[in-house]
Amino acid sequence: MEHVNPNQRDQAKLDAMLARAVGDLSAGYGGVMVSLGHRLGLYRAMAGAGPLSSREVAKRAGCAERYVREWLNSQVAGGYVDYHASSETYELTPEQAFVLADENSPAFIPSAWSVPASMWADEEKAVTAFRTGNGIPWGDHDGRLSCGVAAFYRNAYRGSLVSEWLPALDGVASKLKAGARVADIGCGHGHSTLLMAEAFPASTFSGFDTHPQSIGIARAHAVKESLDTRALFETANASDFPGGKYDLICFFDCLHDMGDPLAAAQQAAKQIAPDGTVMLVEPFANDRVEDNVSPVARLYYAASTTICCAHAISEGGRMVLGAQAGEARLAQVFRKAGFTKFRRALATPFNLILEARL
Ligand SMILES: C[S@@+](CC[C@H](N)C(=O)[O-])C[C@H]1O[C@@H](n2cnc3c(N)ncnc32)[C@H](O)[C@@H]1O
Repeated sequence: MEHVNPNQRDQAKLDAMLARAVGDLSAGYGGVMVSLGHRLGLYRAMAGAGPLSSREVAKRAGCAERYVREWLNSQVAGGYVDYHASSETYELTPEQAFVLADENSPAFIPSAWSVPASMWADEEKAVTAFRTGNGIPWGDHDGRLSCGVAAFYRNAYRGSLVSEWLPALDGVASKLKAGARVADIGCGHGHSTLLMAEAFPASTFSGFDTHPQSIGIARAHAVKESLDTRALFETANASDFPGGKYDLICFFDCLHDMGDPLAAAQQAAKQIAPDGTVMLVEPFANDRVEDNVSPVARLYYAASTTICCAHAISEGGRMVLGAQAGEARLAQVFRKAGFTKFRRALATPFNLILEARL
């Protein structure tokens, strides 16, 4: 490393950089506490209960008080739990509960910590991948990855897919109500497929994914929700999935993971009905690196480095889009595949909802 003259350092900039790095380090420690709070039911024990002593929280969650008290203090230090000094009690406010205790809330965060947990567990694989240029298939990651991704996105889908995203596409909601054929490519654990199947009983749904374990989990969810006659799941690659013609073909947070997204879009062009729609849901991103400077972009670029790009490279990496591809690059892929219409239907802080038609 080149020697830097200490006199050349701007003290204010250094202080700001350090404050930022220490804040991030603290958040990393905090993530472990959030995961424990979720898994042990500590947040759930506190939700709606008002001020509680550490003993009461421990009793409600069936945990040892001394551990719980230290955990509670870590939560207070991070602003995740309120502390009432006069009564030495701890309280989870309704807003904190919405983010930390309510598993069905669209803002529920704890399961998202499974993703960086899997990234740490797989650090050696990433080191090797950087040095060799080789890929890492989706299924070779720590098991917390697919569960964390599925749980994180499920709540956004539950909150918005049927009520906002599908109605934003031209004429799609009415076709689904009347009875349509739908393919969900790269469906993972099948949450998006099953939400649509539940909402549109006249339609039939096929979920495809290359990861057999995810397909097994999706099938089990379908049986549990009594949707297994209308929502079928098969192991298949996006570049040769069967069964068309489909009225709607969906790609939820997966096109950028694929080693050949153009082949996937070309297969969608083959398998779609002449007046059908492709719904492409991708991580929110602007088109230029300099416009992707935010906590959300940072999170996506990081996951993209060791997960999305690594998987695409493992599939041959003809085009490695990464999780911050942006609308312009995605549009190019679909235009090249023969789609003449491509537009942004909606954007949320986490997602772009795009529509392509022949
Ligand atoms: C980030 S996950 C998203 C899963 C799901 N769509 C969701 O939103 O929760 C990406 C998924 O794409 C799948 N995938 C990757 N490459 C694929 C390909 N070439 N064909 C089909 N699925 C693929 C992975 O196995 C994984 O389940």
